[in-house]
Amino acid sequence: MSAKTEVRFKEAEEQKLTILTSIGVIIAVLSWLAYGYPIIVGLLAITAVYLMTGDRYQWVYIWIKTYKRDTIGLRVLLATMFRIWVWERRGVTVVTRWAEVAKMRPDKKAFVMGDRCLTFREGDEFSNRIAWYFRCQGFKTGEVIALFMETQPEYVFIWLGLAKIRVTTALVNTNLRGAQLIHCLKIAACKAVVFGDEMAGAINEIQHEIRDIPLFQFNSPDRHSAPILQGAAPLATELVEMSSDALTDVDPAKPRDTLMYIYTSGTTGFPKAAIITNIRYLLIPLGVHNSGRLTARDVIYDPLPLHHTAGGVLGAGQCLILGCTVVLRKKFSASNYWSDAAKYGCTVSQYIGEICRYLLTVPKGPHDRAHNVKVIVGNGLRPQIWQEFVDRFGVERVLEFYGATEGNSNLVNLDSKMGAIGFLSRLVSSIYPLTLVKCDEITGDILRDENGRCITCGPHEPGLLLGKIDPKKAILTFSGYADKTASEKKMVRNVKVENDCYFNTGDILVMDHYGYFYFKDRTGDTFRWRGENVSTAEVEGVISNLVGLKDTVVYGVTIPNMEGKAGMAAIADPDNKLNLTELAKGLTSALPAYARPLFLRILPEPPLTATFKLKKKELIEQSYNPSLNSDPIYFLDQKTESYVPVSEKLYNDIVQGNVKL
Ligand SMILES: *[C@@H]1O[C@H](CO)[C@@H](O)[C@H](O)[C@H]1NC(C)=O
Ligand SMILES: *[C@@H]1O[C@H](CO)[C@@H](O)[C@H](O)[C@H]1NC(C)=O
Repeated sequence: MSAKTEVRFKEAEEQKLTILTSIGVIIAVLSWLAYGYPIIVGLLAITAVYLMTGDRYQWVYIWIKTYKRDTIGLRVLLATMFRIWVWERRGVTVVTRWAEVAKMRPDKKAFVMGDRCLTFREGDEFSNRIAWYFRCQGFKTGEVIALFMETQPEYVFIWLGLAKIRVTTALVNTNLRGAQLIHCLKIAACKAVVFGDEMAGAINEIQHEIRDIPLFQFNSPDRHSAPILQGAAPLATELVEMSSDALTDVDPAKPRDTLMYIYTSGTTGFPKAAIITNIRYLLIPLGVHNSGRLTARDVIYDPLPLHHTAGGVLGAGQCLILGCTVVLRKKFSASNYWSDAAKYGCTVSQYIGEICRYLLTVPKGPHDRAHNVKVIVGNGLRPQIWQEFVDRFGVERVLEFYGATEGNSNLVNLDSKMGAIGFLSRLVSSIYPLTLVKCDEITGDILRDENGRCITCGPHEPGLLLGKIDPKKAILTFSGYADKTASEKKMVRNVKVENDCYFNTGDILVMDHYGYFYFKDRTGDTFRWRGENVSTAEVEGVISNLVGLKDTVVYGVTIPNMEGKAGMAAIADPDNKLNLTELAKGLTSALPAYARPLFLRILPEPPLTATFKLKKKELIEQSYNPSLNSDPIYFLDQKTESYVPVSEKLYNDIVQGNVKL
């Protein structure tokens, strides 16, 4: 594929050479007709000749193709950096920024969910009560309180209220139970837990293990008589007694102070608590606001969980920091997505992970285009469904971005370039220090040259994305995790010069000649088979398209005495509609032999994690052994090119090397 692109680029260069030459000739002729400017003609000719020698013309061509995009990009970047610089100078925090925003439009709706809503004034008063209440309870600056509650308009104002007395909130994933939940409370050193009435059961299960932690149960206004868990304080009723005036005697926080913890799932084991500072909470929504050219009049549809960065920072921040109305939903629902957006007059909507694919699997209907959404913002729209998505739902702009919760490496696709997760101007890449470096695609280990420095990738060379850490610039800081050893593991030193420091995103990307970035795979996901590297993300995209956009996970499994790993795909087929004959045929035409999955596993349910990413670890462990689980497993017979069921006997034959692969 990269060879083909190379050829296309060469052709484009030649085309461009012709264009430049023609322009030169036209200018010369015009000047000759005008008969006035022989010196300028000479200069132009010389410049043109100069530009066309060597490989400079390539740069001229790239410049012509990208200057518009780059100008917009630079404007967004500078506008964002400047505003953040000013805010940092003035010591702005989320609390002080909110105070300004709330005062400007007190009666505007801040958060809407179903038929409930809170205006900016109501939200502010509610958060003041929270602040007074927890101060009365004796909580102090720097202490951590966990918030374990499903999405509702009060959610954000609870942590905002705590921020008003400079208490840090840890936003705990509502899907966690048992040991994982306890782990999250422990690693962030939580001194108390605020939980919604709907989480009372989950808290009850672990109550004996967290006996020394005070509990506060918040009953949602529409369920205010829900029973209070024994040992918990009835937060909602006690708040009524509190003053709704602002506290005036709190020392102001600083922009770099910790505001909250957001847990990142991480690829291995237990979640980590990533530190979100005030300045980061200001930066993320502002960056997206500027990139999308949004205004305070925009209404944002945010059906994502509020304990994640996408929903709780990028989305909710549009309200807190920029004054937009944000529409929430308790749980994402594919069939209600566009009708919700229409009902609440949303102009911008959010997605993450597999959401776009789910939207496409909903039968076509009148809601598809009966909405006012002009921009969708998110991360994870696969190139394979991009065009179909924009065509069907009539979305003008896709603001696909790349960025980790804790990371400093952010990319935004500003010009809806299909499939790209962002771009970096090839001409001025040094002012935004992101870099792709060569790595072992299988293990993710970074390769180094003879001087011990990393090797920068050229166009179309897959590489690991690193982002330079510069504590002086807010946009380039990496605040790390509550657990310091976890932070150190994500840093790479001596990348370009002695003692520099970069954040390792763990993602393998490719850049094209124009500086657009494309997602290739997570490190550790790519596997090798028959001497070729197989990107699981790419194969997942192809299969998912072949099987009617069903959930698909691809991974490599080992076969004894075979080098590398064989591909295996797990496909969710709850309605039993999968036609394996057609799938095998489709794969033959869509993928090279080494990338076609040798094994298939049919799942009765989609294997989703809470962040709409698909679960891999368990699937890899169970591999293709039919005795380890009851799901049907198939093997791609090399002779007939069709999938046959893996029986106990076939499994043993494969493991013992009696089957030709
Ligand atoms: C596959 O990845 C390995 C390790 O990164 C690399 O050395 C090799 O050149 C790659 N092979 C192909 C065909 O790209
Ligand atoms: C699967 O597809 C093939 C080829 O399109 C067709 O001949 C066959 O009848 C299908 N099988 C089922 C069970 O629908």
